[in-house]
Amino acid sequence: MRSGKTFGWIIALFLVLITAIVGFNARAIARERASALVINVAARQRALAERYIKDVLLKVDGLQADPEEDATQLLETAIALLHGGEVQAVQGADATITIHPVQGDWKITAKLQQERSLISKLLEAGNSLLASDRGSPAFDQQLMQLRIIGAQVSSITSDAVGEMTKRIESSLWRLVWVSVALGLVGALAAIGMALLVKRIAAQQAIQFRSLVHNASDLITVLDKDGRVQYQSASVEQVLGVPASDLVGANLTEWIHPDDLATVTQAVDSLLQHQNSVARIEYRLRREGGAWRHVESAMSNLMLDPTVKGIVLNTRDMTERHASEEKLRVLQAERSSLLEQTVQATELERKRVAAELHDGPVQHLTAFDVKLESLRDRVARADSRGAESLVDQLQGQIRNEVGDLRKMMIELRPPMLDERGLPAALSEHLASIERDAHLACSLECDLSGRLDPAHEVILYRVAQEAMTNVIKHARATRAWVSIHEIDGRVELRVRDDGVGFDPAAISVSPMNGHFGLLAMRERVEMAGGTWHVTSGQADGTIIGAELPKGTRAS
Ligand SMILES: Nc1ncnc2c1ncn2[C@@H]1O[C@H](COP(=O)(O)OP(=O)(O)O)[C@@H](O)[C@H]1O
Ligand SMILES: [Mg+2]
Repeated sequence: MRSGKTFGWIIALFLVLITAIVGFNARAIARERASALVINVAARQRALAERYIKDVLLKVDGLQADPEEDATQLLETAIALLHGGEVQAVQGADATITIHPVQGDWKITAKLQQERSLISKLLEAGNSLLASDRGSPAFDQQLMQLRIIGAQVSSITSDAVGEMTKRIESSLWRLVWVSVALGLVGALAAIGMALLVKRIAAQQAIQFRSLVHNASDLITVLDKDGRVQYQSASVEQVLGVPASDLVGANLTEWIHPDDLATVTQAVDSLLQHQNSVARIEYRLRREGGAWRHVESAMSNLMLDPTVKGIVLNTRDMTERHASEEKLRVLQAERSSLLEQTVQATELERKRVAAELHDGPVQHLTAFDVKLESLRDRVARADSRGAESLVDQLQGQIRNEVGDLRKMMIELRPPMLDERGLPAALSEHLASIERDAHLACSLECDLSGRLDPAHEVILYRVAQEAMTNVIKHARATRAWVSIHEIDGRVELRVRDDGVGFDPAAISVSPMNGHFGLLAMRERVEMAGGTWHVTSGQADGTIIGAELPKGTRAS
């Protein structure tokens, strides 16, 4: 942009200089042409003076002649030479020319003044000769006088013409030197301009090259066989090899074998159509073997004499590709989780229904039978064994109430709402210790109640983690802790069991095991973080961290 402006200025300056030189030359030549004309007119005075004398003599002899006309022309010319004006052209009698007075040279002016007064004298002498007779005694004397003045006019005219010639000669020489000097200046200016233009062009080339080199996109030029003719330096960031490694090599060496056909096909069809453009995605091998996902815009510039190749503008899409892939997996996980949630709800209902059917409903049916027999006895006023039957029934009803309460707690521990997370967890762990024979400990340093939604999330995470410990870990001990750190709440569930490989689980989350995934989802959806650490000898740690939202009271 800046160099373009400079370039414009240089061209303008050069044009002004050349115009000035040409203008000066034209003006100088025109001036000298006018000087030549003046010399010509001045030189004619001599011939005119001689013709005048001859015509006077002819007229004296009574022959046909017109000295008056000669006299007029002589005088007019002498005045014009001194002061400028119109005179008859030398070439033809009809045409007139304008001449400018000779200025700036006192010698010439003096001679012309002298010539002018001599001409006046000549005309006086001519007139008096014309007035006298050939036979008069003064005639010879007057004729002599006329000839002498004529000779004087001739000589002074020659002198003036000589001076003028000298002057014009020296000014012509001056003009030659000035022209040579101006020519030199013009040539120097042309050379200077050429150098400047060359420098600007070189600067622009450097600028362009550095733009191409530093662009994050790769610029590649291929010949028709796919050999790299040019490669921009940015390839080093993408492929880890210097551009020089690619130049001369075939690009196919870097292309993923599975993508080779696509690329070759695209190049082939591009070559069939001049100036066509294609866009393809493929993979390139990075130094070390990793694959980079790239997208190339390819243009066929085979006919462009400055390129003569296929130009590839390639962009590294690996990061975008990876995030797209991650998003795809995440979306699949989400939708399968939703499905799983629906299924789990149904399953849970079925389980509750089955449990109600197998437990309370069966037991209540049995009570009904027992109450029936009790009623019979009461009707028959047979009180034998009635007391023990009532005791038995009471005991069984108490058990039943206990079972129902347990079921209720499992569905939604009332303790969680009533007394908060630590109390609910403590109750849950106590029941595990009782039923699963697993030593559990709870450590807790919460300063107050948490946000109810967060309490439920952390409770469910601990519950699922503990279920996994019972189901999979073959552990003897489990530790649950809840701590507050920098405004966040951290839950940890640790066991001393067999451990597992979390990487293997996260790779295939869709194989029916949704416990871990659901834990993570719940926590992350609430703006928290979740992690699992597990090794074969060290057991498993599940960690969940949530921002500490406090309970709105
Ligand atoms: N505490 C643990 N100790 C050992 N293995 C575990 C533990 N927790 C989870 N696992 C392993 O991770 C798998 C996935 O767990 P999860 O997603 O809860 O599904 P599920 O419990 O239905 O199998 C389990 O099948 C088990 O192999
Ligand atoms: Mg599980």
